[in-house]
Amino acid sequence: MLRISNEFAYRVMTGGPIIMVASKSKDGVNDVMTCAWNCPFASDEMLVVLDLGHTTTQNIIDTKKLVICIASIDMANTMLAVGNVHARDCGDKFIATNTKGVEIFENNIVVPQGCMAYMDCSLINETMLKETGICHVKVNNVFVDEKYWDKANNHFGEGMKYTAHHVCEATLISGNTITSFHRG
Ligand SMILES: Cc1cc2nc3c(=O)[nH]c(=O)nc-3n(C[C@H](O)[C@H](O)[C@H](O)COP(=O)(O)O)c2cc1C
Repeated sequence: MLRISNEFAYRVMTGGPIIMVASKSKDGVNDVMTCAWNCPFASDEMLVVLDLGHTTTQNIIDTKKLVICIASIDMANTMLAVGNVHARDCGDKFIATNTKGVEIFENNIVVPQGCMAYMDCSLINETMLKETGICHVKVNNVFVDEKYWDKANNHFGEGMKYTAHHVCEATLISGNTITSFHRG
């Protein structure tokens, strides 16, 4: 076995798919960011780790609402684009990154078009988010593109073939393929 630096522990524990987190400011400005650090907490509760300085974090504290978006590797360029600029600097992230947005839930949050699945969520623990950046959410509604869902067995096995996982920097893995993408 090779001993590696503890600072790279998270790169071994890559865990779940990269997600995008869509939110809206209290003034109605659309935002979406990329998030590699996330996992289930209960069957209908999720944990998302957010930097306290992100516009998304403030939006969720203010509105208690977000949408978790699970994209395929085909949307890697979108995930890198929305993950490299703050809405507080660029305004509406969809306009700034030329990302096509749609509203699919009644919560009025705009989400990137073409993802494999979307979860409309509500913040459960505001204090924990404010103090630690751990965003614990309750899932209100889940939509999955039906071509990725096994209805007989209720699983996302087909979708998991195409999810993107973070390796380092702008390098993502999906299936057996590791790809380094150009930023910007
Ligand atoms: C591949 C990738 C993974 C990322 N993972 C996370 C993450 O897990 N948590 C986080 O807070 N930021 C993460 N980021 C950074 C945010 O997406 C980025 O800072 C974004 O610009 C924040 O936007 P906002 O300020 O509009 O919310 C990631 C970025 C990329 C490109």
